[in-house]
Amino acid sequence: MPNLLIYYNTKTGNTELMAKAVEEGAKKVQGVEVTLTFHAEPQDLQNADTIIIGVPTYNHHMSLDIQNALQKTAESGINLKDKVGAAFGSYGWSGEAPKQVLEILKNKFQMKNLDTPVLSNYRPDEETLDKCRELSRKIAEELT
Ligand SMILES: Cc1cc2nc3c(=O)[nH]c(=O)nc-3n(C[C@H](O)[C@H](O)[C@H](O)COP(=O)(O)O)c2cc1C
Repeated sequence: MPNLLIYYNTKTGNTELMAKAVEEGAKKVQGVEVTLTFHAEPQDLQNADTIIIGVPTYNHHMSLDIQNALQKTAESGINLKDKVGAAFGSYGWSGEAPKQVLEILKNKFQMKNLDTPVLSNYRPDEETLDKCRELSRKIAEELT
């Protein structure tokens, strides 16, 4: 069965609310195994067919956990080429982190289908949560 990994980080819970909506959206599609995790090793990224990363912006940057995981994956020589990727995240005023993650997935790992990230200004409202559900539902449908 194709699988979809949702790997996220959060400090105050806003990106976690988004991550749970992303999980809900993906689970609407039959025949796709969905994993939601706060911690991923390079091997977990390698084993996933699709990787959706949730990352808040702190100090104009992605959180260190996500940065370290991507760094470790690159150093391990793991090949993520042609896997489907996406990103989302909560922010306060600048919101660079999801774009930075997509840039790395695209340029370093040569992943594909990298849609515009779903962003939430602080706590996601219902409309933003729907965008999260829609993002993952579309991607999960493409996997089947
Ligand atoms: C110390 C600190 C630094 C922050 N730096 C930024 C920033 O550079 N750009 C931005 O858009 N938001 C920034 N924020 C706001 C967070 O991105 C925002 O609170 C977000 O909702 C946190 O997501 P989380 O609840 O998933 O951790 C910062 C917040 C704190 C506390």
